[in-house]
Amino acid sequence: MPRAENQLEESTNAHPCAECCTSRLVSRRTVLKSALGLGVSLHFASIAESAETDPKKLRPQIGDIFLFSAGAHQGQVVTLNNLPEGGPPAFAYPLDPKTQTLRDGSRLNRVLLVHLAQAALTDPTRAVAAEGVVGYSAICPHTGCDVSGWQADTQHLICPCHTSTFDPKDRARVVGGPAPRSLPLLPLQIADGKVTVAGAFSARVGAEQK
Ligand code: FES
Repeated sequence: MPRAENQLEESTNAHPCAECCTSRLVSRRTVLKSALGLGVSLHFASIAESAETDPKKLRPQIGDIFLFSAGAHQGQVVTLNNLPEGGPPAFAYPLDPKTQTLRDGSRLNRVLLVHLAQAALTDPTRAVAAEGVVGYSAICPHTGCDVSGWQADTQHLICPCHTSTFDPKDRARVVGGPAPRSLPLLPLQIADGKVTVAGAFSARVGAEQK
């Protein structure tokens, strides 16, 4: 029997007065519950701290480049040349070029990169794009599926789970479906021909929390 439960029994046996024992039991149970609650809180605090400090889980950092995470170029660095203009989009994870740390320790770091004609972009979108390449979180803000669909004629991104549709030419605003907000945008630039992070995500990534 665990030590804490033993202590409860010892306490009951040592005090024949029922009211006194009940009071002590409640008091000890309260302490145990508080301790358990504190333990759970510390556990989650520890996970949150790890997400903030583990370089593989850190959100994309300025200067990071990208590796394709799927498709024919999987594992290669994303450049202006191997991302075809007009789509389709590519899935990628950020990579710290100094330490070679791939930030694939969190699914929330998955990014969609789409190379579009600069003239097709709205002004605010062009301002954060890299020579026509736009970057967005790949995680649907509705319930968190990967936004893996592509409609070539309209150049829209589509989430296959509930068909939310986003316009990458206009800061990934929602043009259909139940998604409550746009895909978070990731500012980009081109450095040495490579697609590179130029700023932080425009909003919290992941599914909307109620
Ligand atoms: S999870 Fe994307 S539309 Fe529901």
